[in-house]
Amino acid sequence: MNVKLDYSRVSQFISQQEIIDSIEKHRPLIEKVLEASTEDKDNLGWVDLDLLANTSLIQQIQAKAREIREKADVFVLIGVGGSNQGSRAVIESLGDNNVEIIYAGNNLSPHHMNRVMAKLSDKSVYINVIAKNFATLEPGITFRVLRNYLEQRYGEAEAAKRIIATASLNNSSLEVLGKEKGYTLLPFPLDVGGRFSVLSAVGLLPIAVAGINITELLQGANDIKREIQSLSPEDNPAVLYGVTRNSLLQKGYNLEILAFFEPLLSYFSKWWIQLFGESEGKHGKGIYPTACSFTEDLHSLGQYIQEGQRMLFETFLNLENQGSSFKIPHEETDNDGFQYIDSKDFTFLNKTAYEATVKAHVEGGVPCLVLNIPELTAYYMGQLFYFFQYACYISASLLGVDPFNQPGVEAYKNVMFSSLKTI
Ligand code: PA5
Repeated sequence: MNVKLDYSRVSQFISQQEIIDSIEKHRPLIEKVLEASTEDKDNLGWVDLDLLANTSLIQQIQAKAREIREKADVFVLIGVGGSNQGSRAVIESLGDNNVEIIYAGNNLSPHHMNRVMAKLSDKSVYINVIAKNFATLEPGITFRVLRNYLEQRYGEAEAAKRIIATASLNNSSLEVLGKEKGYTLLPFPLDVGGRFSVLSAVGLLPIAVAGINITELLQGANDIKREIQSLSPEDNPAVLYGVTRNSLLQKGYNLEILAFFEPLLSYFSKWWIQLFGESEGKHGKGIYPTACSFTEDLHSLGQYIQEGQRMLFETFLNLENQGSSFKIPHEETDNDGFQYIDSKDFTFLNKTAYEATVKAHVEGGVPCLVLNIPELTAYYMGQLFYFFQYACYISASLLGVDPFNQPGVEAYKNVMFSSLKTI
């Protein structure tokens, strides 16, 4: 069974006919995107999962991950944006704690840098530095700090054995440095942007280091890929998601909340925010993507969602099987006013809260899409990544923007670099 999109609760905001009309209007474009037209060779490397991670690369990654799991206490993942958000999403949801994973190179905070360094002493350390374009300041400069540290601590030769560089293998400066120093090199696919890279070596090594089954992750992605590439637009979940959110945008719903009742999905929502924000927000267009972890955020943003400006819609990630249970203890007398749920399970409370929230939000004027996910496993996380990547490609194409570039990110960098270089 695959993840399933339920868009029945948007019907009072957009009719079924409007969705069908929109598919009809854009049919040639949608069909072209579903064929993943090879015209855009530079950016569509994520579509074909077998090319992205072939058997020999998967075996190489698994062997390296086994070595790291045996020898390391700490694994430092240096990367920012698309270079670490995908793997972090899976690791924070499903990872075991055999090896401590530390994230670095994703900010410029001196506090963070000091904390990272403090965690390394007396521990066996491995590093994975990930960069498509090694000019990015945060991972670049953090890697300088950490490779100096490893070289001083272990000597150059042993340090090199502990460093894995995931780099563009087109003579990029990270590849050149890696070759010179003797690091293990993994490919950052040239035709894949960071936010579409989680199912390549970029995401797979850190995920495997966290003890997660990468073959299951890829199997899930492959199964939803087959569905997306075979179903007609009218029945296709990725098309329906893309068309529905664009139709909502045209009606003024310009903010989308990815909502979930499982805090383990918080880092997944960061990956999703980047995917849609960086892919669609350009030329004065795009839906602003944000996330809410419920029930906690019902006690903060819940008020706005229910009664604030009517320009937002929600996409719920609904875990059908929550994968865990916790029973409330029985008490004979009602000492705390909660006897109405005596002996019930948290699973039941969470599910009831989810259903109540969707109902109340729809009644409050918030269109709600639901993505039903059978359970939180590597297999279904693979499906989620691939589903949203494809849906984003379709959605951005309907919006009329190029999902694969991010020219706006350069604006602050230009100012910052000219300040840094003139000091
Ligand atoms: O999705 C993207 O392309 C970006 O978010 C990049 O992943 C991010 O800017 C990091 O780039 P790099 O891997 O070149 O350091």
